[in-house]
Amino acid sequence: MTTKNKKLLDDIEEAIKSQKRPTITVLSSLLAIQDHIGYIPDEAITAVATSLKTSKNAVFNVASFYPNFRFTPPNTNSVEVCWGPTCHLLGASKILENILKILNIEEEGDTEDGKISFRFNTCLGACSQGPVISVNHELFGNMTSSEATALINKLPNSKTKH
Ligand code: FES
Repeated sequence: MTTKNKKLLDDIEEAIKSQKRPTITVLSSLLAIQDHIGYIPDEAITAVATSLKTSKNAVFNVASFYPNFRFTPPNTNSVEVCWGPTCHLLGASKILENILKILNIEEEGDTEDGKISFRFNTCLGACSQGPVISVNHELFGNMTSSEATALINKLPNSKTKH
């Protein structure tokens, strides 16, 4: 086993064990893994099946049912724009359009250069500071298009990935 694979398996194990909720389910385990490493690799399907004493098929069925799970590693940076009702009223659509333009993509997804994974979010939980964006899981409120562009332009091209 390579060091990289060992780290991936350790990270998956850590994510499964870190769940504090009283009831651990396939869904809660998959969510914990995606929060921890950013995606659901094949190894995670196996680990969840083993941990919950169920079949890999049952785990995969849950994972593939929810569109929010991804099965490939995300790009280096994550950017999310809230387009929930409050942020929408406060001007999120202009920010959203501008980001899509500078990333040269038409909808949420990964940029071809491997730099950014971009997603819409229905509420980032900071409505009073809308419009809100999240960059590498850090929230930025009261955003303007030019501030959002400046944040994105400062992002690194690469960092250590799984
Ligand atoms: S609606 Fe945007 S943070 Fe809640």
